[in-house]
Amino acid sequence: MCGIIAVIQNKGQVAPFLHQALKRLEYRGYDSVGITTIEKDHLFTKKDKGKIDEVHRKHNLDNLPGSIGIGHTRWATHGIPSLFNSHPHFDCDEKIAVVHNGVIDNFLELRKELAKRGHEFGSDTDTEVIPHLIEEKMKEGNTLKEAIKYATGKIEGTYAIVAMSTLESDKIVCTRNGNPLVIGRKDNTSYVSSDIPAFLPMTNNMILLLDGEIATLTTNEVVIEKLSDGAIVERDTIKISWTADQAQKGGFPHFMLKEIHEQPDAIKQTLRIRTEVFEGPAKIIEASKRVMLLAMGTSGHSAMAGRHMIASNSGIVPSFELASDFQDVMYDSITTDDCVIAITQSGETTDTITSVKYAKELGAQVIAITNVVGSSITRIADYTIITQAGPEIGVAATKTLMVQLTALAQLSIAIGERTEFRTKEYLKDRKQNLEEIPQKIARIIAIEEEKARRLANIYHNRPSFLFLGRGISIATAFEGALKLKEISYNHAEGYSAGESKHGPIALVEQDYPVIFIAPKDNTHGKVIGNIMEMKARGANIISVIEENDTDLMELSDQTFQIPAGIYHEFSPMAYVVPLQLFSYYMARRNGYDPDKPRNLAKSVTVL
Ligand code: AGP
Repeated sequence: MCGIIAVIQNKGQVAPFLHQALKRLEYRGYDSVGITTIEKDHLFTKKDKGKIDEVHRKHNLDNLPGSIGIGHTRWATHGIPSLFNSHPHFDCDEKIAVVHNGVIDNFLELRKELAKRGHEFGSDTDTEVIPHLIEEKMKEGNTLKEAIKYATGKIEGTYAIVAMSTLESDKIVCTRNGNPLVIGRKDNTSYVSSDIPAFLPMTNNMILLLDGEIATLTTNEVVIEKLSDGAIVERDTIKISWTADQAQKGGFPHFMLKEIHEQPDAIKQTLRIRTEVFEGPAKIIEASKRVMLLAMGTSGHSAMAGRHMIASNSGIVPSFELASDFQDVMYDSITTDDCVIAITQSGETTDTITSVKYAKELGAQVIAITNVVGSSITRIADYTIITQAGPEIGVAATKTLMVQLTALAQLSIAIGERTEFRTKEYLKDRKQNLEEIPQKIARIIAIEEEKARRLANIYHNRPSFLFLGRGISIATAFEGALKLKEISYNHAEGYSAGESKHGPIALVEQDYPVIFIAPKDNTHGKVIGNIMEMKARGANIISVIEENDTDLMELSDQTFQIPAGIYHEFSPMAYVVPLQLFSYYMARRNGYDPDKPRNLAKSVTVL
């Protein structure tokens, strides 16, 4: 939520780069955008409400002087999206500029105190207290860094803060607590951003900044020190394998469509993770009394499917809890015998991070599955499995779901090898089946994409949809419904087909669209029963079925067909693909940008 970028280079105008970098961060928020640069001891700013392209058309974001600057793309928390609430924010004398991602819990109190001391505020944001706190300390003769240290002592909450000042125009200073910041370095330029893709076209040399650290960036170097005692932190540069091309649309009209098409390759890359990576987590899971999967949103649907994978391949049945509610359902019952598997593509989701910290404090072992090297979750977990989707820019998760499912499948096999619930041959066969999935998904995309577009033309103006499945396919139904509502804004409910007759069936009337996820597994017969119930009430049936499933072809008004031969616990990987495509084309047909759904941000860093 909110994207930050700052750059200091030894010559040349920095604004065009900041503008492009913000475009690469726009998935983090798109309520408003702003850039401030320094030239000849003056701050120059362009900012406004709206998406980056709109603001650029109005103000020309490239037209700012100076080779040092900061930029921000906002997802509003405190204060409506407006010119005045857009970042950067300033002190009274407009000598200090600050961008912030996070929430300052005690901002009201600080604001009152600062106002009493004569500070004037130009916005309703929590952020604005920061430049005013810095201003006070700098006026007492402190450096920018010392003043920021002081400000971090006053503010409570979560933050990634980047600041610069005309009084020290040769540096950018940044610090963080609970929100991401990564530093990039190349030649005579230093970068800091909320996420790697922002500076990826310039460098893949990344330096992590951790909570409780403050970094000073100049053209020559990056110096990191601890906020607590000023001790210098020596941190190695990490070379990341992501490429700039991966963060481009590559000829596709939207990132989401590109990322759907990238899924076969993302699975292949994730299948290359060394088997030893799964051994430590498998050992912990086998030894634990309770195994709990934790996640939010689409990652939660991976967790729901992962529960079945682990149960079916190892005989251990984990529970699944929404990370946001974990503390409220656990009643401090966690012990050192417990293990938590946290799934988060970004590695930064506050709901997930908070509940993982809680579980760890009470002694649980933590295994993380994430797509982002160096993200917050990786620093909390005892074991981390890094999935290999590459950068995902579309706000709606697609390929990161796929790699999570791949990693969970691999993990389920690794646990199975320890528990011996299944024979060696059985698990070997599972591995082989998994290897075949990328090619099957490529076929689904090749054949079903056109159908998804055609069905979107038919169904685009239906106000409401039910997505139903049984067993592991409940996860697929939930994901299908989430994708549709989040990008096309049609009301959609994912439900257990078994449970549907206990209430949701009341929604069904003539032609009401019900989407069944119906692989040929042990739930098939029961799903046919549920389809009959819906049909008897006039429902229009769209089914995702195994190819040539003649029974379901006869019972359905429309079908998406999935190649045969996918084991049931891997079925969500294939059966979700037509639903992703359907949502994508529904959003387009309804005139929405699938990459930037309203009110959403890629990484949700508020509770
Ligand atoms: C997915 O399409 C959503 N935008 C959202 O539900 C997302 O999956 C959720 O916020 C969790 O994110 P994470 O995987 O980064 O933790």
